[in-house]
Amino acid sequence: LFEGWEAAATSDKRRLLTQLLELDARYPVDVQGRVGLEAYIAHARELLTGSADNTNPFDGYVVEIPEGERMQIGSDAFRSDERLGMRVIQDAVFVLVAGGLGERLGFNGIKVELPSETCLGESFLASYISALLAIQEMGDPSRPVPLVIMTSEDTDTRTRALLESNGGFGMPMEQIHIITQANVPAVADNQARLVLSASDPFKLQTKPHGHGDVHTLLFQSGLLPRFEREGRKYMVFFQDTNVLAFRAIPAALGVSERNGLAMNSLTVPRYAGEPAGAICRLVRPAEVPLVINVEYNQLDALLRTSGQDGDAADDSGKSPYPANCNTFILSLGPYARALEATSGTMPEFVNPKYTDASRTSFKKPTRLECMMQDIPRLLAAGDRVGFTDFDRWFSFSPIKNSIDQALKAHADGVYAASPGAAEEKVYRANAALLRLAGATVESAPPREYLGLPLALQPAIAMTPRFALTVDALIARVPTGASVTISSRSTLLLDGDVTLHELQLDGTLVVRAARGVQVHIIGCAIHNAGWVFVPLKADSVDVPPPIAIRGYRVSKLEAVEIEITEPGNYQLVGNGVVRKV
Ligand code: UTP
Repeated sequence: LFEGWEAAATSDKRRLLTQLLELDARYPVDVQGRVGLEAYIAHARELLTGSADNTNPFDGYVVEIPEGERMQIGSDAFRSDERLGMRVIQDAVFVLVAGGLGERLGFNGIKVELPSETCLGESFLASYISALLAIQEMGDPSRPVPLVIMTSEDTDTRTRALLESNGGFGMPMEQIHIITQANVPAVADNQARLVLSASDPFKLQTKPHGHGDVHTLLFQSGLLPRFEREGRKYMVFFQDTNVLAFRAIPAALGVSERNGLAMNSLTVPRYAGEPAGAICRLVRPAEVPLVINVEYNQLDALLRTSGQDGDAADDSGKSPYPANCNTFILSLGPYARALEATSGTMPEFVNPKYTDASRTSFKKPTRLECMMQDIPRLLAAGDRVGFTDFDRWFSFSPIKNSIDQALKAHADGVYAASPGAAEEKVYRANAALLRLAGATVESAPPREYLGLPLALQPAIAMTPRFALTVDALIARVPTGASVTISSRSTLLLDGDVTLHELQLDGTLVVRAARGVQVHIIGCAIHNAGWVFVPLKADSVDVPPPIAIRGYRVSKLEAVEIEITEPGNYQLVGNGVVRKV
């Protein structure tokens, strides 16, 4: 690193040394008492030696199907778990990991600024915050639910700016705790030699260390003891773009509470061979079994060495191992104790791309990484780890892919994971939930948007203030109600709105402010509505968050009602508001 330093300017030398000191200060003390860069390099050498020798990290493990709960959406048991979850939800801290680069999506901004759907048009960050505010509004308004956001060097400035320019989306800034992950040094070879930047010989190359940093930062920030002092019980970790996960969190919290789980992963049924991690129970003689995520690229080999038929389907047609959604709930006490024991150090791994079979040189510098779902490795022997499995339509809608990548995924028969595919999932889930509540919701065949088939209508969007749980949503369509929504309709509902009698063929938007109750009674609405207009690949006049979807909403005609003055109202006829 210091070659040719005699001739270098002091300011340059100072730059590199400052960076080294910063990197050194950030990396936690490990269990052997090694600190900073010394620890990082020691870990890298150990892991790179193991990787060069092709050591199997799962050597000797037998894989078993873990114990967990398979939820039936809307069943009595499900609704009872939701109610139990809602009793403790204000004792939870929500942790959003939003440091990812989103390389597969190829969007210039940050993912949390994207809308989860384009009819209401709220950003992901806004919808997460409105869910937390709704929890307070419907529960105990005097007990704020904290939000922790992990940003990174790539996302920090824009995330802060998004919050600041929108007044925290209604959440006081002191309720939001931002922790920022830093990159770690890239290493050039199996000796873990650090690498200088190609364009600047006084700067180290650095790379992201992975979302496991969230645990290190929560420990280092001192937030955990603070949350414990406040009487918090649970920490809910969730990803940047999976808005449907919020539908599953209340019931999953209920399961954590009922079963006394130290860790509870939200999962969905997994297809054999699907590129998604699987929750497995790993058993080795004389060791406490480990219930943990196994990455999909390691699963098949692990299952084979453990005497099974690889990553195959069982009689149900799916893998017996549920797919990890990277949304999970930790019980704060066991979690805080686990991090204290390691001073926040997370288990790491390394994944160099070698130039040849000798496994001695890399195609490009690599770095150590860590994953947030590896927490079970740190928990104590008696801590229970389980999973709660939800139907995909109900809880799984992350955005990962650009349209090009999405077309490939679609051709392979897997979820396309583009912004449009995620928006379709949101509308479909809402339609399915209204049907569950007793409404008749027609469906329409998909249309192609930049080659990707999507069924975007009926487009139904419901804010957390309309219903936080399935239980609450079912109550929004009382027994005996008559609700029919045609396949070309758009229905947007916000706040305390009850659907008694509604025939909708077009667009209806109802927003009820705090203290307002709206009953939709004897209401028949027919108008030109809103339509999803396909975009061309080279459309220049649309903002990037819309262009990456392949369509935009054209608002032709709608009945839009917004009531702010507290009171009881009826919506009747073709959209007339009557105060009662
Ligand atoms: P993804 O797997 O979606 O990765 O991360 P990514 O980096 O955002 O996207 P690609 O792989 O470059 O396309 C899952 C979650 O973990 C967060 C992401 O923001 C997302 O919420 N994450 C990922 C971090 O917070 N930090 C990281 O270092 C990596």
